[in-house]
Amino acid sequence: MCDYRGKIITETVREYVLNECNSSKNAFGPAFFGQHLSVVAEYAKRLGGALRADLEIIELAGWLHDISAVQDFAALPRHPALSAEIARKLLREKDYPAERIERVAKCIASHSAPVQTGNGLPEEVCVSNADAMSQIVKPSYWLYYVFRVRQFGYAEGRDWLRQRVESNWAALIPPARAIIEKEYDRTRELLVS
Ligand SMILES: [Fe+2]
Repeated sequence: MCDYRGKIITETVREYVLNECNSSKNAFGPAFFGQHLSVVAEYAKRLGGALRADLEIIELAGWLHDISAVQDFAALPRHPALSAEIARKLLREKDYPAERIERVAKCIASHSAPVQTGNGLPEEVCVSNADAMSQIVKPSYWLYYVFRVRQFGYAEGRDWLRQRVESNWAALIPPARAIIEKEYDRTRELLVS
């Protein structure tokens, strides 16, 4: 569905998510849109080019993958499954093809750890790897998240982010590592002390 209608749906979904991010209910803060969701959509599409994945499916999943937690922070522990449900409903309302909705929903449901090549749809590989990449490339936002949103103490917050950066890096597929090698070195250095 990489046609005019597909572009309109992608743009409408992006606008919807932007509005939800700007709402006072969004505990992640309005920066979540530009510093996380946009980053995931961008890197997932970059990976999608290399993996010959469907870029429209990837982009829709990129915008919507955390939507349940944006709308209600209490949903965080179950946000992949809940966000997939919201995406299904939203895309159905827009008459998006059922088979494509299921692919978007799959990407969202499996995004919380990098899916390895061959272990899922190519689009799932792209979105889940991009989600892990975003914590490595945008440390400023994730420092805001640990100290402001989660209200961790200094050492606890620093160690949380360090661990996330290291475990994400270890789980990334090689093409994802190749894209953010420099950012990984820079972020590790930033979190040294
Ligand atoms: Fe995310």
